[in-house]
Amino acid sequence: MKVRSLSMRHYRNYAEQTVLFDEGVNIFFGENAQGKTNLIEALFFLSRGYSHRAVRKQEIVEFDASEMFVSAEVTRGDVRHTVRYKIDQNGKELTLDQKKAKQSQVGRTFPVILFEPDDLHIIKAGPERRRRFIDEELSEAMPAYKTTLKQYRRSLKQRNALLKAIRQDATLTVMLDGWDEQLVSLGSKIISYRLAYLKRLNTAAKRIHRILSGDREELSLMYQNNVIDRPAYQRDIEKAFSEKISESRETDLEKGTSLVGPHLDDIAVMIGGKEARRFGSQGQQRSAAIALKLSQIDIYEALTGELPIVLLDDILSELDENRRLNILKLIDRNQSMITCTNADFMQKYHPKGIALYHVENGVITSVENGD
Ligand SMILES: Nc1ncnc2c1ncn2[C@@H]1O[C@H](COP(=O)(O)OP(=O)(O)OP(=O)(O)O)[C@@H](O)[C@H]1O
Ligand SMILES: [Mg+2]
Repeated sequence: MKVRSLSMRHYRNYAEQTVLFDEGVNIFFGENAQGKTNLIEALFFLSRGYSHRAVRKQEIVEFDASEMFVSAEVTRGDVRHTVRYKIDQNGKELTLDQKKAKQSQVGRTFPVILFEPDDLHIIKAGPERRRRFIDEELSEAMPAYKTTLKQYRRSLKQRNALLKAIRQDATLTVMLDGWDEQLVSLGSKIISYRLAYLKRLNTAAKRIHRILSGDREELSLMYQNNVIDRPAYQRDIEKAFSEKISESRETDLEKGTSLVGPHLDDIAVMIGGKEARRFGSQGQQRSAAIALKLSQIDIYEALTGELPIVLLDDILSELDENRRLNILKLIDRNQSMITCTNADFMQKYHPKGIALYHVENGVITSVENGD
């Protein structure tokens, strides 16, 4: 799967722009605040249906404009597709080959993996950030997970509301069993998915981390979940969940919230047997984050048979030469879009076969790649 071109109109600081991409490495360089991240965001947005940085979809419309579109030409083998998203007076519309489409269809046609500076927090931040990491990527690769997760979150919300309501009116307690059952059934599925996913992630991240650290350090991941502490069959997870939720009922009622379930999961990221979040150096945390992030490429390919497009926003320039080179090697089968403020360092690694573009004030110009 390759993206051949992207067209944007009244999107962020791009008034009108079309970019033709190379099938391999595409480097976008330019000063700060010129539109590099905006371009990456446009590709991400088309694929996923949300922006990694805008809160509301309307934010992507150019200031003072009332309508916009972004569209991409994508090829899969010999087949061409056009993905288009527009906002105008009739509202928002996503189309695939001129027909109204669902985001899940588009995501499959045009998968992307984004790696940006904020991802370094995957290691440092609290558990919520790591859950989000798993949820986003797993949802992309497995639509059934996304559906189950939505249902689980809805049930959790209802159960929590009921727990609070019972404090005012104890007769409502009879309703709790039903919600417990829902939570156990949906939550056990989530745990099963995550266990399987973590197994793949552990293998892939270990391999990548070994390459990044020049074989010096060993990364491992541990799934931390308050229902079950080892891989298990779904019915065993359900049994354990059922027991734990009953045990926790009194405390849940007291606190007015559900204290057992995958909504409290975490992944412990260990380097050399020590938790990276607490004991890792900056460099170690960075390598661990990169390993987790780049693992998505392997996993996505294993689950779907497709190679996603890799978007690296402002990542390479902060790394030492060895790591940079290793990352480029790790993504050399994928089409990639890479942004940086200065592209000089790239010349060394890919004398041929990269496309260079200069980004300035919302205009992208292809630069002849000299020598
Ligand atoms: N809706 C919008 N309409 C017009 N301009 C916008 C809109 N949203 C953001 N911008 C502008 O786009 C510009 C470029 O932003 P972008 O984040 O792409 O820069 P960048 O090239 O990635 O810079 P940096 O190197 O600092 O990361 C900013 O100056 C910002 O003000
Ligand atoms: Mg940027």
